[in-house]
Amino acid sequence: MTFARTQLDELLHRLFINAPATSLRDEDRRKSDEMAGLLAEVAAAVARRAPKGEFVLVDAAAGKAYVGLLAAELILAPRGRPARVRVIERKPARVADCRDAIARLRLPQGSHVNIEVVEADVADLAAWPSEPDLVVGLHACGPASDVIIDQSLAARARTLLLVPCCTSKDVSAAVLAQRRADQLGIPRHAEVRRRFIQSVVDAERTLRLEAAGWQTTVVSFVAPTVTPHNLLWRAKRVGEPGRMAEAAERLARLRG
Ligand SMILES: C[S@@+](CC[C@H](N)C(=O)[O-])C[C@H]1O[C@@H](n2cnc3c(N)ncnc32)[C@H](O)[C@@H]1O
Repeated sequence: MTFARTQLDELLHRLFINAPATSLRDEDRRKSDEMAGLLAEVAAAVARRAPKGEFVLVDAAAGKAYVGLLAAELILAPRGRPARVRVIERKPARVADCRDAIARLRLPQGSHVNIEVVEADVADLAAWPSEPDLVVGLHACGPASDVIIDQSLAARARTLLLVPCCTSKDVSAAVLAQRRADQLGIPRHAEVRRRFIQSVVDAERTLRLEAAGWQTTVVSFVAPTVTPHNLLWRAKRVGEPGRMAEAAERLARLRG
């Protein structure tokens, strides 16, 4: 499924800008590019589910909930089946922006899409629905990406689409990576070390998902000119024992 840029631009403007006679700023156009890539992934995950029961999507560390709200109007409502979007965001101002935008959604009459906005930290498992069909975390900063992985496992989500953001010292695998860098003699030159650290953090997340039974693919979902944080972890819960054992062994080796 593809989404026309004009359609995405109109929707972003209506929901999140809502000022007559204004146009999208450059940053909004980049968000539109990101949405084109990510919504295609969301649509594919929705299409994989049999059309029975309620489809539950979690937009985690949602900000204004671009993903959850656009998915509601463009993917879930047209599907004509019951669906629920759970938005989890800890900043009150972002939660208010999201609630404001919901009022401007145009869901077809009779569509059964419920949107629940929860002001909470993603670390709070009580904020999560159990066994969601899909969890999306777009630009979840620093350790929030790891918390989303852990909570997706704990909530027994079926599919996770995760786009991590910046890697700070608060990311636990970054601490591991520094230790491994010193062990291997990686020089302290910032640009050289940064790439090594990021690679270890990416590897640790991939192996952690695989060791927990998630078949994981890492792809670029949008051009790096749109955002440098353009890698998407697409993880599906399959619980394949051989795959899990191999990942667990690699993870143990990575951790030293
Ligand atoms: C870079 S923004 C991305 C927002 C949105 N997903 C997007 O791509 O536009 C990261 C958001 O995650 C939220 N956030 C970071 N850590 C969080 C946590 N532990 N629990 C809930 N929200 C968190 C921040 O408040 C912020 O709104």
